[in-house]
Amino acid sequence: MMRATLILVLAMVASRLGGSGAGVNAAESSASGTRVTENNVRGTAKYSNDNYGVRRVQSIHKSDSPEAAAIRQELRAIEEKTQRSQTGFNVDPNHSVPYDNHPWEARRKMQEGNGAAQSQFAGTFFKPMRIRFETKSLDDMRDASNAAKIDFIKNEILPRTASFWSQALAVVPVSGPLRISTGELDNREYCGDYEFTRVPSEHISQGIEGADLVLYVSGTPSSRFCSYQTLAVAVACNFDQFDRPIAGAINVCLSTVELNADGTASPAVIQDNVDVAIHEVSHILGHSSNSYRFFRDPDTGEALTPRPFSTRQVTCVDGVSRSLILPADNTMAFVEASNGQRFASIVTPKVRAIARNQFDCQSLDGAQLENQPTGADSCTGDHWDERLYYDNALSGVISPTTNILTPMTLALFEDSGWYKANYTQARISPWGLGAGCDFATGPCIATDANGAASVPDYGRGYFCSDKAQKGCSSGHTHKMGCTINDYYHIVPRDLPDKHFQYFDGLPTLGGPRQADFCPLFGSTYEGLEAEQLDCRESTNANTYNLYSEIWGQDSRCIESTAGEGRCYRTACVQDIMALKINVRGEWLTCQYDFQELETRVGAGLLAQTITCPRLSTVCPDLFACPFNCAGRGICNYANTVNGTVRPQCECFDQKDTSPGCSDSLIPDGAYLENGNGLFNNLEENFFDPLIAVFVDHPDLWASASWAWAAGLLTVFFVLLLCICSSCLPSPKGSQKY
Ligand SMILES: *[C@@H]1O[C@H](CO)[C@@H](O)[C@H](O)[C@H]1NC(C)=O
Ligand SMILES: *[C@@H]1O[C@H](CO)[C@@H](O)[C@H](O)[C@H]1NC(C)=O
Ligand SMILES: *[C@@H]1O[C@H](CO)[C@@H](O)[C@H](O)[C@H]1NC(C)=O
Ligand SMILES: [Zn+2]
Repeated sequence: MMRATLILVLAMVASRLGGSGAGVNAAESSASGTRVTENNVRGTAKYSNDNYGVRRVQSIHKSDSPEAAAIRQELRAIEEKTQRSQTGFNVDPNHSVPYDNHPWEARRKMQEGNGAAQSQFAGTFFKPMRIRFETKSLDDMRDASNAAKIDFIKNEILPRTASFWSQALAVVPVSGPLRISTGELDNREYCGDYEFTRVPSEHISQGIEGADLVLYVSGTPSSRFCSYQTLAVAVACNFDQFDRPIAGAINVCLSTVELNADGTASPAVIQDNVDVAIHEVSHILGHSSNSYRFFRDPDTGEALTPRPFSTRQVTCVDGVSRSLILPADNTMAFVEASNGQRFASIVTPKVRAIARNQFDCQSLDGAQLENQPTGADSCTGDHWDERLYYDNALSGVISPTTNILTPMTLALFEDSGWYKANYTQARISPWGLGAGCDFATGPCIATDANGAASVPDYGRGYFCSDKAQKGCSSGHTHKMGCTINDYYHIVPRDLPDKHFQYFDGLPTLGGPRQADFCPLFGSTYEGLEAEQLDCRESTNANTYNLYSEIWGQDSRCIESTAGEGRCYRTACVQDIMALKINVRGEWLTCQYDFQELETRVGAGLLAQTITCPRLSTVCPDLFACPFNCAGRGICNYANTVNGTVRPQCECFDQKDTSPGCSDSLIPDGAYLENGNGLFNNLEENFFDPLIAVFVDHPDLWASASWAWAAGLLTVFFVLLLCICSSCLPSPKGSQKY
């Protein structure tokens, strides 16, 4: 009987040892068994010779990630070579898209004194944008090897992309057939490029019914557009009489679409591909260095940059002076940062207001564009700057965890004059949210009293200074490691400039290049993929669970002072303006940023201190303003109600009392009104944590756990003694030996 019990206990220990080996540790051993892949940031992966072998990394590169400079140069050439780009006038002045009562047309007629007086211009004319796809070119590529991919693009990716943008943007609806002008087509027949789609003649002669935008989708495996693991490229190719893009080309590189053997894809892969498609379409819609010069005043329809265009002499982000056609100062401004780096910012009113609200920095000029040279003769980028807008869907590099379509991007579309945005489709980015002017203009890494690299307070939770550091993604959805590459070992060798060096005596180290080499929490570790580090994903639960972590929809990554992120349930609570964190069944309260809380985990044997996150990053709806006030107001982060700080929009239109200065706000329930529903409920699987401590973390033993273990060990030896004594042969029997 006693023997049986002991065997049972030993079997349990053995299974636990086996279990932990096959769980977390297996990843470590396989990683060391192949190649070390600590810093597999998607944007820089292709520079390295490492075979990262992570499928999502392969499928996810934004078409025009800065590394793919040659591709971006091809696209820029397509845009810039047109007569329209050089003069500002469509080639065929008679080409006109039919509108009923376009507000700008109505306004012009009224000024000419021959139209009925219009009592109102704004809003009411606009209807959700109707997007049509023309996929004949893509279909023509179909063969046995790519049929599933083409179906995936047509049935999964394109409909979701169209649905996103038609909910996000409204336009003055085209009334009648949308006809394509040959004047803007390549060789008067192709949308964008001869390798994309030849526009069907009936689109030119008769037009397309029921569409405000037509997208020509092709699947040409072109060497000019499909290297560097590019998934897709996109360019606009037709415009209405007010310069709104009415047609564009998307070329999908089918070889980079990666599906399971049965032609399906995981939700994460679908989301990645949709993210890329949403990003690409926004280049067609106006988020492109070639488009900014065509922006118009939304109220009057006046061109913001006078026509015909003329060139200006300007010093570009690479320090080279060039003579170029650029948007006027009311749209884009060139600035020199304190470290000498030049950059361009979008300074249109709504974009500017949102950029200011994002960082709580009302002195900002506008929203900075990419400042890394992205091609032989590029002057400014097409994207938001990576250092300032790291997790933004419209920054240049895809982040491994989060790509947020932010209110700022929708504001850019509103500032173009062509669109009205529904901000419900956007989410605020936690990156630098309310972190102050220093976050936006200061260095990401400073030097502490001992001369070591350290993260300044304003950068805490975003930047990191040690490659071994583990923490959380900026929105605290994922566990993440610190991204620091040694650019000495990356080919082609291209070391950080002097003003992007942060480590004394180690000039070749830095984070992602596009983020000004700022080290940040953007790396997966232990051979895991980003989605395996996602706290919200319940299937990520560990087989053994030393730190009493919980994975699930309301879990977020919380840093422990031991230097690692842990997954715990959280709740944002409005009445007490606090973040609640549930550790081992108990709801703890974070009242301020980076507050430290004592907890006990692992059956209560293990002491652990956790660090509250910056509250605005986990509860942006409580600790920042809805939609950053939609570009229509100032976010007063210091606003107090009954003595409690509650950020609030102060709308420019004083009659507007809506929470986000926009009637499109629909609360998404991201916080609780009060904590009444949060009950403490301690429970624990008794053996798991102890055995986990025993196996992996003897360094973390507290005195209580020593006592516990000593007790268990004593019991164990007593058992052993009993069993052995029962096995011991009698004196008589021993004589047999
Ligand atoms: C535009 O239309 C007008 C009037 O129909 C015509 O006289 C003119 O030649 C046309 N211009 C072009 C460039 O086709
Ligand atoms: C502020 O306090 C007053 C009185 O205690 C209360 O009636 C009111 O609801 C409070 N306002 C908010 C927004 O909590
Ligand atoms: C904005 O979008 C949401 C969700 O797509 C929708 O429910 C809402 O009606 C839209 N609001 C306006 C003003 O169009
Ligand atoms: Zn892009």
